[in-house]
Amino acid sequence: MMFPRRNYLTCLMLCLFLLLTFFDPSVSHSQIRWAAKKKRMREKVRKMFYHAYDNYMTHAFPHDELKPLTKTYTNSLSELGNLKLEHLPQDYNGSALTLIESLSSLLIMGNNTEFKRAVLWLSENLTFDVDARINLFECNIRVLGGLVSAHLLASDSSNNLFQGTYKNQLLVLAEDLGNRFLPAFNTPTGLPFAWINLKYGVMENETTETSTSGCGSLILEMGALSKLTGDLRYESVALRALRKLWSMRSSLNLVGTTLDVATGEWIEFSSGIGAGVDSFYEYLLKAHILFGREDFWRMFHSAYVAVQKYFRHGSWYHEADMRTGKATYWQLTSLQAFWPGLQVLIGDVAAANSTHREFFHLWEKFGVLPERYLLDYQMLHPTEKYYPLRPEFAESTFYLYQATKDPWYIEVGESIINSLNSYTKVEGGFASIRDVKTMELEDHQHSFFLAETCKYLYLLFDDSFLKDGNYIFTTEGHPLPVLRAWHEKLPETYIPSNWTSIKSQQEAYRISAMSMQVCPAMTLNSGKRIESACHVPDARSDHRCFSDEDCGVDSTACRRRSCSMAGYCGLWLFI
Ligand SMILES: *[C@@H]1O[C@H](CO)[C@@H](O)[C@H](O)[C@H]1NC(C)=O
Ligand SMILES: *[C@@H]1O[C@H](CO)[C@@H](O)[C@H](O)[C@H]1NC(C)=O
Ligand SMILES: *[C@@H]1O[C@H](CO)[C@@H](O)[C@H](O)[C@H]1NC(C)=O
Ligand SMILES: *[C@@H]1O[C@H](CO)[C@@H](O)[C@H](O)[C@H]1NC(C)=O
Ligand SMILES: *[C@@H]1O[C@H](CO)[C@@H](O)[C@H](O)[C@H]1NC(C)=O
Ligand SMILES: *[C@@H]1O[C@H](CO)[C@@H](O)[C@H](O)[C@H]1NC(C)=O
Repeated sequence: MMFPRRNYLTCLMLCLFLLLTFFDPSVSHSQIRWAAKKKRMREKVRKMFYHAYDNYMTHAFPHDELKPLTKTYTNSLSELGNLKLEHLPQDYNGSALTLIESLSSLLIMGNNTEFKRAVLWLSENLTFDVDARINLFECNIRVLGGLVSAHLLASDSSNNLFQGTYKNQLLVLAEDLGNRFLPAFNTPTGLPFAWINLKYGVMENETTETSTSGCGSLILEMGALSKLTGDLRYESVALRALRKLWSMRSSLNLVGTTLDVATGEWIEFSSGIGAGVDSFYEYLLKAHILFGREDFWRMFHSAYVAVQKYFRHGSWYHEADMRTGKATYWQLTSLQAFWPGLQVLIGDVAAANSTHREFFHLWEKFGVLPERYLLDYQMLHPTEKYYPLRPEFAESTFYLYQATKDPWYIEVGESIINSLNSYTKVEGGFASIRDVKTMELEDHQHSFFLAETCKYLYLLFDDSFLKDGNYIFTTEGHPLPVLRAWHEKLPETYIPSNWTSIKSQQEAYRISAMSMQVCPAMTLNSGKRIESACHVPDARSDHRCFSDEDCGVDSTACRRRSCSMAGYCGLWLFI
């Protein structure tokens, strides 16, 4: 049979195109294999998310979280951080916590229909006028953050999700919640109470003890709420608390873990980068990226250098006393696994890689990450042997893959997925692990499994969401777009995208928050590559010195160099 001439030509061109595609030397076999693998993995994560989500919707919604073993629910918003389970409410039926936490994940996975259904349900049925004592930090990152992020996504005109029917319902809810937070800040120091009753405000005789992350991880959500509503009170109280907290640092630029909001005195002087402190560091940097203020960067930089100097030991981070810098606990906590992800954002990729690898060894050893591991004894902590489906290790894996495109991280992701499916998946959802030695399960599916664990794994295999915008993720994994309009002053070290004007261009991809390294690696005159935000060059370029002050901070050890008798800068006094 003869082809008509036009079809023949089309076919020829098509064949040529196919030939070129498949024989393009730059598209190797292994690239095709990795692409296929990523697609397979992405579908596995999607299945996991829906298994968790559908079971929550069937057995727990509109309560807070799912109990996957008994297929029932828990109204856990009032239990978060409440280890002794004090002052539990008598008449509280939940706030659809897991649904709120799932909103941005639904959009990232492309389920606009379900996202819209959820937004409508929340607009009509959610109320915060409930007699429940909640943890301000947890409620801020999960509920306020979930609502503010979803509002920004819903009102983004470029995706035309609601065709004009979205009337800022989520913002109205967020504003109502923000107003209920305000009384917590009414303390002599401006540092907020850790607990507040959503209906009645601060309870009588409420504890004045709180944590560093409790006071220092509010600025992203409350700052964004102020930008969106024009009501400056939310940002202003969060900023005041953060400044007060920073003023309480020691002369070594270290902070403690717990403190008293009435007196502004430290209670626990030992601290690290894990539980009780972690997101304080994270929010200093991310607030700088989101709001473009130099003061956040200055605080972050000093705090980061101090962490590298006093907590780091090789690839590990231990705890130290904020007053002396002396090591206290040689323990590794599962929450610390977020740190490499943060390091990627500032451009310390090599350091991030080495710490991430250590965490992976531990993951391989146990199948998941134990909550606490005693580094000096190389053994599990006697009681904190659990793994509650935490996201931090997946999060760092995602950031490192974004920065390096090293397929090794895809394999790490695969290993995480296999573990989660083989140890934690049950008929009614995903269950936490009570003991990583026996893999005994616990009847709880935390909302962050949907907000973070599944989201970061999905983004590891499919980052198309990031190509449409430049986002930072809150500590609960809720994306906030980096908007030029929110920047008070453009930071010198990085250029935020002029998003609308470059959206369609190829560079759009490069300008994701991931590649927007605030402190990019530098090459010195000597040709040596410095890759560390903590590097401070020597005052004199010939490395000669008269006093310690002439010597900067070493980039690999992050330790201040000192001046030798012979007049050379070096690290030897500290080795
Ligand atoms: C919670 O649910 C119970 C049982 O359905 C109901 O009696 C109660 O009024 C509800 N509480 C609130 C605050 O809505
Ligand atoms: C969206 O989520 C709902 C609820 O899980 C599900 O029934 C539906 O198939 C999903 N749609 C897409 C496109 O994934
Ligand atoms: C609000 O909740 C009620 C009771 O569950 C339900 O009938 C109604 O459809 C909900 N509203 C929306 C918009 O989903
Ligand atoms: C608050 O503490 C005081 C002194 O300990 C006590 O007398 C009072 O009963 C407490 N009030 C409440 C509501 O617990
Ligand atoms: C990460 O560490 C491994 C093992 O030390 C090394 O082979 C790899 O090149 C490193 N990758 C980066 C991006 O530093
Ligand atoms: C950013 O976008 C605005 C509006 O599209 C335009 O007026 C401005 O020139 C752009 N600035 C840069 C630096 O591209």
